[in-house]
Amino acid sequence: MKSEGFGKLTTGENTTLYTLSNEQLTITVSDFGGSMVNLWVKDKQGNPVDIVLGFDNVSGYEGDDGTYIGCNVGRNANRIHNAGFFLNGKKYELDKNEGTNNLHSGFNPYSKRMWKVNSVNDNSISLFLFSPHMDQGFPGNMDLTVTYLLEANGLKITYDASCDEDTVINITNHSYFNLNGQGSGTILKHKVKINADSFIPVDTNSIPTGDIGNVSGTPMDFTVSKAIGKDIESDFETLHNTGGYDHNWCINNYDGTLKEAVVAEGDMTGIKMMIFTDYPGIQMYVGNFLDDIKGKEGKVYNRREGICFEPQFYPDSVNHENFYSPVCKANQPFHKEIIYRFE
Ligand code: GLA
Repeated sequence: MKSEGFGKLTTGENTTLYTLSNEQLTITVSDFGGSMVNLWVKDKQGNPVDIVLGFDNVSGYEGDDGTYIGCNVGRNANRIHNAGFFLNGKKYELDKNEGTNNLHSGFNPYSKRMWKVNSVNDNSISLFLFSPHMDQGFPGNMDLTVTYLLEANGLKITYDASCDEDTVINITNHSYFNLNGQGSGTILKHKVKINADSFIPVDTNSIPTGDIGNVSGTPMDFTVSKAIGKDIESDFETLHNTGGYDHNWCINNYDGTLKEAVVAEGDMTGIKMMIFTDYPGIQMYVGNFLDDIKGKEGKVYNRREGICFEPQFYPDSVNHENFYSPVCKANQPFHKEIIYRFE
């Protein structure tokens, strides 16, 4: 384990970058946002490749204007229609930070706060955030811990939380992957398989219509591995609405246990990543909005040069009775896992 300065915030506060390694991989994590900054895995020749987009120092993360690169997104990831919801008969209002809707919980994201490092050693780091009652508009005082754990062939991210009132908890990791190496160009030739027979159609504001769509015979079908770019320009309404893949897939046979959600492969490096999660859904967002982002090591990130796989409850699920509920009961443990395994 190594720790080093990651730069000063505009407040003058110092930040730290932690490096953890095992034989297969190396990650770096910042105490600002608890964000994952680097993830090096080995290609076929055994050369380390950094497969996540990011910034060289904390200023990039502090100044980030809506990409959420490498972030932990909470208390609720994705969109909430009309930035509001009812819980136990009470109306809660959130920031309207995307038109009249709420995206990734609003103007004061967890990713722009200092997290407290609770423990760190050679293969794991745990960071803690306290989110007070009505923080971002959500009820209840919540304790949240994110743990990054290096395993023999991958990385496990765990979210543990508890809250003293019933609340919405739907926190995820928003890393942009490029399995050919960060800053190496388009991800359109990456091959992706998603273990999902259905998906969540959305309108022109990326808000779920409430339907659950069948992927069969549509460009949303990733049940058999295919290149991201293969059907991305197809004439299909919900795909037009979002300007490319930016949808939630419903992971098959969800029962609250870990399931393999995604297998993705970089065409240039042959790096293969499998994602497992115990969330019911996974958002695949192919970086349609990336535009001239000045990233790590002089690289510039443009449209579709990174791909997010965000395990989560379906978008706006708090407002849909036919979606799995993201409500966590008072004083009940919240525990979710995301595992990235490499070949
Ligand atoms: C999510 C959304 C996208 C976009 C990105 C951040 O993944 O689904 O529409 O807002 O976050 O840029």
